Amino acid sequence: MDKASNIYTPVWFMRQAGRYLPEYKKIRKTEKNFLDLCFNPKKAATISLQPIERFDFDYIILFSDILVIPNALGQKVSFKESIGPILDPINGLQDLKQLNINESLKTLQPVFETIKLIKEKEKKKELIGFCGGAFTVLTYMIQGGSSKNHLLIKEKVKTERQKLLEIVEVLVEISSMYLNTQIKSGVNSIMIFESWAGLLEGQDYIDFIIKPNKSLINKVKSKYPEVPIVTFPRGSGDKILDFIESVPCNVVSLDKTFPKSLLKIAKEKDITLQGNLDPLILVEGGQNLESEVKKILLTFKENKHIFNLSHGILPITPIKNVTKTLEIIRSFNETR
Ligand code: CP3
Repeated sequence: MDKASNIYTPVWFMRQAGRYLPEYKKIRKTEKNFLDLCFNPKKAATISLQPIERFDFDYIILFSDILVIPNALGQKVSFKESIGPILDPINGLQDLKQLNINESLKTLQPVFETIKLIKEKEKKKELIGFCGGAFTVLTYMIQGGSSKNHLLIKEKVKTERQKLLEIVEVLVEISSMYLNTQIKSGVNSIMIFESWAGLLEGQDYIDFIIKPNKSLINKVKSKYPEVPIVTFPRGSGDKILDFIESVPCNVVSLDKTFPKSLLKIAKEKDITLQGNLDPLILVEGGQNLESEVKKILLTFKENKHIFNLSHGILPITPIKNVTKTLEIIRSFNETR
């Protein structure tokens, strides 16, 4: 992540390895269950490198998923086409294999093999490892999959708070061991996807978002203080200022909106900002895409900035729009 400086803006895209690429769709067809693809080191390494070969992005992100963690804890996870993930119901800790986290971690061994393979094949580029934030993973575990209104998790945060916080604690513990083993296997930086941070306010935001992110990062930093950590508390709005005040991160990935004061505060705290092109504008292309990309480059000109999207790239994204975006960023870098 050291590449980001006042004279160079590196670029990568969330979900850069995925369904907008024909070469991904081809290899996707070879496995019925998505997790089998994640747990096949040779295929997962090939997929991780596909966007690098095609676009020469500055960073590789490990091809896997945040839901490998509930799966490792014994909650069965499957993926249904055009529906998304489906998780078996759980009723608290007793349903999870949490009593033996080391045993659970063994099922993640193929992920560590994937990391080693990627590092053998591509030695120059940094590899980003990742996991989900505890609350985001918990959201899928409780809702049993994707949800539009998240009524169940919001209700349980109030009515079964203690039970949920116990699961969060287990998730922080297993995630820290998972991340530390990713680092030992060769990843150069870590990103924590807290995609559903925006569901919570007030004390709930403190207990379920700030505290677990801080605890997870401290557990990684105590072992690997030099490894940069990217956080993504999506939907936090102004609360992102409280977040970076308490959570010791090196990079913050931004969604569509953030308080303007963040630009100055990030500079003072030497935090790199990452983001924040709307994936829908990338789909749309044309003049609007060009002006948005330029606007973002100028907004973050005085900061350490990594160009990225405000959320994952959409499967309907035309490849030519990705190429165009990269051209604009690269010519901007040449003029600095
Ligand atoms: O970024 C990358 O290229 C690396 C791989 C990656 C995937 N998922 C691959 C994937 C990463 C970093 C993720 C993170 C992830 N997974 C998040 C956090 C980021 C975010 O988008 O908010 C979340 C919430 C998940 C859970 C998940 N995985 C959902 C809800 C879905 C279904 C929706 C969808 O986009 O299909 C997935 C499936 C998934 N994860 C796919 C890919 C390439 C598509 C599955 C397929 O090809 O069949």
